[in-house]
Amino acid sequence: MTLARAPSVASVVVAPGNAGCTQSGRGAVAPIARRALDINDPAAVVAAAKEEKIDLVVVGPEAPLCRGVVDALSAAGIAAFGPTAAAARLEGSKAYMKRFAKEQNIPTAPFVVTSDYAEAARFIDANPRARVVKADGLAGGKGAVVTSSVDEAKRAARDMLMGGRFGDAGRTVVVDALLEGVEMSVHVVTDGERYLVLPVARDYKRVGDGGEGPNTGGMGAIGPIVVDPKLMKRIEQEVIQPTLAGMREAGTPYRGVLYAGIMVAPDGTPNLLEHNVRFGDPETQVLVHLLDGDLAELMASVAAGELDEGAVAVGERHAMVVVAAADGYPGPPREGDLVGGMEQAAMQEGVRIVHAGTDLQGGALVTAGGRVLGVVAIGESAEQARTRAYRAAEKLSWPGIHFRRDIGT
Ligand SMILES: Nc1ncnc2c1ncn2[C@@H]1O[C@H](COP(=O)(O)OP(=O)(O)O)[C@@H](O)[C@H]1O
Ligand SMILES: [Mg+2]
Repeated sequence: MTLARAPSVASVVVAPGNAGCTQSGRGAVAPIARRALDINDPAAVVAAAKEEKIDLVVVGPEAPLCRGVVDALSAAGIAAFGPTAAAARLEGSKAYMKRFAKEQNIPTAPFVVTSDYAEAARFIDANPRARVVKADGLAGGKGAVVTSSVDEAKRAARDMLMGGRFGDAGRTVVVDALLEGVEMSVHVVTDGERYLVLPVARDYKRVGDGGEGPNTGGMGAIGPIVVDPKLMKRIEQEVIQPTLAGMREAGTPYRGVLYAGIMVAPDGTPNLLEHNVRFGDPETQVLVHLLDGDLAELMASVAAGELDEGAVAVGERHAMVVVAAADGYPGPPREGDLVGGMEQAAMQEGVRIVHAGTDLQGGALVTAGGRVLGVVAIGESAEQARTRAYRAAEKLSWPGIHFRRDIGT
């Protein structure tokens, strides 16, 4: 949707997309078409891009990036935004990322990488802080288990290494020392050498108010968050720059968006928890509403290897998103319910509704996933964005709809 609003864009094809992709938005929006496609199949993506005469392919999720979709597009002479498969290992393999961080002297929790349960258990016994167990491979954001005892940590390691939890992704694990501090994430857009730091948004991962209840893919976000410039400088110098330099040295320069998860220790050390090789959801719904200019031009410049920092600028405003979820989420969600109140919600001032788990059934909008809609609002202040977002969210209805009431407080 943001790309369809970019001045340089004449039309957008989304694969596989959702019900929001066939609806035209308000304002200057290029036509959006939806196309069924196995986005994890590099050859299929190349063929579709050729057929649709696509000038720039933006590869969004981590799975197709790790499968080499960008490599295949580049080989076919089609401009693509996103890292190569080799560079996408920063997210695709937590073991790779941790070893890389150690080599580059990037601050990160002490750890061990192993495929052997006995070795994991020894590390857990020997290190009173070794309490976090992570599946090496992609696990849909659910592969990290934070525990609070030796027994729980060992059980998590056993489940992954011997019990097949997370399948192949859990055949190797990272056991991490538990870090304390304040978590934050930083997005940079980079051509491998130069980079542009995007505004910082705070996200809300738990399902319930006050951070109660199970983890989700994200229930809301607000930005910009004011970050101490000294801390931002440390993050750039100690995490971002060595990551880009190390990837260049390894012969696998990193291009695209890099989203680093960081635990800022009480002494200010920015410990790298993880790298993601894509935009964060739902933070990005906030980020793109804080940017003026042409995101497509920025992405095209990265694909061409020449970051054009002037393509976007950070606007003077605040943005917030509250995610309206289906009954049951984050467990298996109830699907196929009619979405009510869409029009009233969308017509609230400063509000834009972003589709996630939606579909069309006989022309009617229905729920089709856990996180159904993102209600985005912009405002001159955080408070105004918040008031607007909740005014709109209240208009939405389906059986069992739920959203957090404390985003941005
Ligand atoms: N070493 C650690 N110390 C404390 N908390 C951690 C540590 N590693 C991960 N976590 C917590 O677990 C969450 C998920 O871990 P992460 O590495 O981001 O994996 P993923 O996002 O793939 O599930 C983090 O956001 C953080 O809250
Ligand atoms: Mg994470």
